[in-house]
Amino acid sequence: MNGNGVWRRTHDNGSLRPHDVGREVTLMGWVHARRDLGGLVFIDLRDREGVTQVVANPQESDSAAAAAAQVRSEYVIAVRGVVAARPAGTENPKLATGAVEVRARELRVLNPSETPPFSIADDGPVDEAVRLKYRYLDLRRPSMLHRLRLRHRAAKAIRDFLSAEGFLEVETPMLIKSTPEGARDFLVPSRLQAGKFYVLPQSPQLFKQILMVAGVERYFQIVRCFRDEDLRADRQPEFTQVDIEMSFVDRDDVLSLGERMIASVVRETLGRDVALPLPQLTYAEAMARYGTDKPDLRFGMEIHDCSATFRGSQFQIFAQALAAGGVVCGIRVPGAAGYSRREIQELEALAKAAGAAGLVAAPLDPAGVRGPLAKHLSAATDRELRERCGAGAGDLLLFVAGPAPAASAALGRLRLDLVRLRPELRDRVGFDRARLSLVWVVEFPLFERAADGALGAVHHPFTAPLDEDLGALDTQPLSVRANSYDLVLNGVELGGGSIRIHRHDLQQRVFAALGISPGVARERFGFLLDAFQYGAPPHGGIALGFDRMVMLLAGDESIREVIAFPKTQSATDLMTGAPSEVDPAALEEAHIRVRLD
Ligand code: AMO
Repeated sequence: MNGNGVWRRTHDNGSLRPHDVGREVTLMGWVHARRDLGGLVFIDLRDREGVTQVVANPQESDSAAAAAAQVRSEYVIAVRGVVAARPAGTENPKLATGAVEVRARELRVLNPSETPPFSIADDGPVDEAVRLKYRYLDLRRPSMLHRLRLRHRAAKAIRDFLSAEGFLEVETPMLIKSTPEGARDFLVPSRLQAGKFYVLPQSPQLFKQILMVAGVERYFQIVRCFRDEDLRADRQPEFTQVDIEMSFVDRDDVLSLGERMIASVVRETLGRDVALPLPQLTYAEAMARYGTDKPDLRFGMEIHDCSATFRGSQFQIFAQALAAGGVVCGIRVPGAAGYSRREIQELEALAKAAGAAGLVAAPLDPAGVRGPLAKHLSAATDRELRERCGAGAGDLLLFVAGPAPAASAALGRLRLDLVRLRPELRDRVGFDRARLSLVWVVEFPLFERAADGALGAVHHPFTAPLDEDLGALDTQPLSVRANSYDLVLNGVELGGGSIRIHRHDLQQRVFAALGISPGVARERFGFLLDAFQYGAPPHGGIALGFDRMVMLLAGDESIREVIAFPKTQSATDLMTGAPSEVDPAALEEAHIRVRLD
């Protein structure tokens, strides 16, 4: 106790052990659980570090027992007492402190609590809207504290790793001019300059490149980014990036740095080793073999292009697709030849939802393919097909015919749905949910065609093309590959980056291909182009989604689980009620008139 009667906590609730028996202690925390055995009151006292059992016995202290009788769940209390060994047979091996208890001499209520809307002690499933409204209670739950700790440890591992590699953490502004990451900006009105706006950064992209011109050489920042886009389980309007930029490097330097960093995070947080170097797939390979640019490599079931086998086939669906310049893609579902008609129809519905025109199912028995396809296959093509897909008796082949990216994309989606929905397949395809399967996807196309026909940058307009594709920049821009890369973990895009264009002439050619006129380029990124006139070093970088990284380390399926105060699907903060109307005077000052129509 200090001079004014305020107690000082001597221990946290996770630390007392048998060697503390006899010690006088003062504990503080929340009432996790309370059991009243006719005057003898047991309280599980919880704080961040754990739970300690407190016993208030009227025979030892009347006042402590009387006070203990009044407390309820989540009251904040302080207890002074003596550590005792628990009576033999009553130890709790599940608790780190389970061999001891604290016999209360005095007990004070520091603050009572309303009855919480859900039990913190249970740590079971609770409706997410309720959790988000009462996030302070949700975060008290041990599973959520575990996530906060994990996030902290991951951030620390990153800072330690990058500092040791010679990186400087530099902050960049939050009130900026628009960056070209392709999402909608959040706007911030300027009070001092009527009618003008800042935007919140979608990323620090342009600033980090300018830091390279400034000679920083190795920059990083664990930084909040803002994108006003449609939300999903792995997207929030504000999220955190581990943002990195390096000078005088090529792609392999960035990839090596990135993979050593992620390996160190996995080691520091999960104590697991990641085998390096990580595998690499080109974008074209990833699309062909997995139907996606973010393949989940925790299992096989690869897509096979069977077009050559079916060329000249009488089977109408395939013949038509091939005649139209399309492809026939297939996957082998091991041991699934016995799927019923209804089960196949369900798979077809999934394939259609993923963009396929239909799904052709071909079960295999020892004699070869059965089903509608069988009568259109010669013995030779039947054999060729089985060889191409590595299939044998008892397997099921599933085919989608159509334009190339759509057909493989639909099968890629179906591949994921199959392991999600058919638990019996998981062993057969070697799926292990707990595995961390990291892969680099490299050589994305530099450009893509938008719905309106215009060319857009797949990454951003400062991404360098591959040297060997430079010749096609003006003539066949869609065939040009970028010197870019994504890091994919278990089918989730964890990060992306590129080697940047650092020369004025090449930048002008890329802008021209993108239809960005010199005037528009000057207006949007004039400051960057100016900076590049003063000796820009060759440079490149990457940004990793930190929320996604922690989500995957925690084994979660939504980044909301690993963000202390996330927003809902409709970008609402259920705890504070943001977004909300503001005081009309504030609008006036910001020179804003709201029109709702
Ligand atoms: P990119 O736009 O690919 O690249 O973003 C990098 C990574 O950030 C994460 N991410 C998100 N996470 C949660 N919610 C979102 N709304 C969200 N949007 C993106 C993803 C993604 O892979 N400046 C470039 C990087 C560079 O070129 O260096 C950039 O921002 O994990």
